[in-house]
Formats: sequence, structure tokens, C-alpha cells
Amino acid sequence: MAALPSFVNGALRAKLENVSRTDLKARAQRISDSYRSGGTSGVIGSDLDALAYAVVRMPATYAAVRAALAQAIEVVSDFAPRTLLDVGAGPGTATWAACDAWPSLERATLVDDNLHLLALAQVTQAPLEVTAQRRAIAAALTDAPSADVVMASYVLTELPDASLRATLDRLWDNAVHLLVIVEPGTPDGFRRILACREALIARGAQIIAPCSHEDRCPLARAERWCHFNARLPRSRDHILAKDANVPFEDEKFSYLVAGKGFTALARGARVLATPKVDKIAVTLTLCTPDVPEQRRVARGDKEAYRAAKRLDWGDAVIENRSRTS
Ligand SMILES: C[S@@+](CC[C@H](N)C(=O)[O-])C[C@H]1O[C@@H](n2cnc3c(N)ncnc32)[C@H](O)[C@@H]1O
Repeated sequence: MAALPSFVNGALRAKLENVSRTDLKARAQRISDSYRSGGTSGVIGSDLDALAYAVVRMPATYAAVRAALAQAIEVVSDFAPRTLLDVGAGPGTATWAACDAWPSLERATLVDDNLHLLALAQVTQAPLEVTAQRRAIAAALTDAPSADVVMASYVLTELPDASLRATLDRLWDNAVHLLVIVEPGTPDGFRRILACREALIARGAQIIAPCSHEDRCPLARAERWCHFNARLPRSRDHILAKDANVPFEDEKFSYLVAGKGFTALARGARVLATPKVDKIAVTLTLCTPDVPEQRRVARGDKEAYRAAKRLDWGDAVIENRSRTS
């Protein structure tokens, strides 16, 4: 379970002192209702709203980005970026996840037009140099600095579809090595990821994760959509604000990590759902170029069965060091 790092929790705890939990809960509820009915974070209009977002949504988007980065890092394990550009950064969620994933990061530029969310990022004592730009994405991308990694986490979902292609082109132009896009794990989120995948491949991108190839996506016309799950712990305030019963939450996300100029990619067939385990076999749903493959690993094949039992939704099976064949 990926929990928010202590430097983020410390900043939130300080902000939460003397804040009425009843007020926080009401604000969190209003933000959740707005998201659920297709609204954007435009509903976040004060510092207390931003704090409510950080309490109830930031742990989930952090866990999703951190999980996506973990999957990508397995493919490009030697990559050690120094600079980051985070667009639609909000309270800095994706930047903090990237800090945890790549301790090599030295500088980050955070772009967002929401003053209140960006202010939370600015009070966080991060282990890297942060420059915050309060600007609209379209304007910022015309002169934002290029960066080793460009991140767009839960933000394309807030942009009009008509501006998606132009924004994507700019994001890609600004990425020296990697572009990381994370979206809600819904059919709609996947549809945007798929559109980005096709456009980026047309521009010569390497797909670092989740795919093992640049061919047509086998889920492009399937009923299933490509998404993953990140489990996260809920803090006491998170539980209170959501009236939740359990101390954890599952966040579904779709993502794409596209790269430039990598020579060796340790890619494998991605596990697309929780493996089914019974007394006689483990059944894996694997992403392979033509159609998702149902692979049965029989108990009789002891070593492969043991290895398959260790696999989880989102893991990659690399055939030449295969844990299932
Ligand atoms: C759902 S929040 C995601 C925040 C953060 N990336 C995360 O993963 O938690 C979307 C963010 O995108 C920002 N945003 C949306 N449209 C924008 C635009 N056109 N220009 C700048 N920021 C924008 C919002 O202000 C908000 O902070």
C-alpha cells in the first residue's frame, strides 16, 4: 500500500490544526459529488476546499501514480531523471510520487491555475527544488522548461476533448525522456489513454508501460478496458471525512508511460486482472498483441505455479525470465 510520504503528511497535519472536521467533511462531500457528476476541480475555491481535496483525494491519486511509476521503473530501471514538469499539479501529488520513485530528481516545475491547490504544494517541504507556476496549461506549455519527465496526473480528464491533441503534442515536446499520463480507471479514462497512445506512437514514442509493444491495443475494441488498482491506507481524517468503514481504499486508474531514446526495454505481458487461483491452476489474463490471453498455469508445474501465484494485477510477465512458462 502506497501511503503519502511523511513530508506531505506533515504539511497536511499542520494545515489541519484547528480546522473543524464537520466543515472539512462537508467540503469533501461537495467535491466528491462534483467529481461523481462529471465536474472538475473548478469546485475547489478556497484553501479549506483544497485541504479537503488533499485529505480525501490526494492519497488515492498519489497511490495510483506511484503504482504506475513502479510498473514503468521495472522496464527502465537504469533511468535516473533530474528534472520534472508536472502539469495540472494540484497539491503536487504526482511530483511527490515521482520523488519517491526517483530519488535522483533535483528540480520540479509545477503548473496549475488553481491558486489554492498550488499553495498546498508550496507549503510542503519537499526533498527537491520546486518552482510553482500559477498558469493555464495551454499557456504554460508554450514556454515551460523541458524536463526529463513530464507528468499529467488526473488532469486530461478536466480538459475539453477538443484540446486534448494539442495539449498532448506540447506535453510530448516538453518531455526529454518520459511522459507519464494517469487518468481515472474508467472506460472514459481509458478512452483518453488509448487516444494518447495512438497519437504518441504516430510521433515515434516507445511505450514503456503498461504495454509490451507499439502494435494495436488488443483492448481497443474489447468490452474490457485497461485499468489497474492501487490500494491505499486511509488516515483518521480521511475516514471521518468520507464516513468510511475500513482503513483502506482501492483506487482504479488507467495510465500510459511513453518514452524517447531508451535502448533496452524490459517489457512483458501485463497481467490485466486479479489472477484466479484454485486448487488445480492459476489463470492469468495477459495482455498480448492480438487479444488478451487466458493463460492457465497448472499446479503440476510446480515452479511455474509457485511463480504465477506470486503475480498480481498490473505485474508484467517477461517471457525470457518468465515466472509462468
Ligand atoms: C483532479 S486535479 C489533479 C491534481 C494532481 N495532478 C493529482 O493527481 O492529484 C486536476 C488539476 O488540474 C488542474 N487543471 C485543470 N485544468 C487546468 C488548466 N486548463 N490549466 C491549469 N490547471 C488545470 C486543476 O486546477 C487541478 O489542480
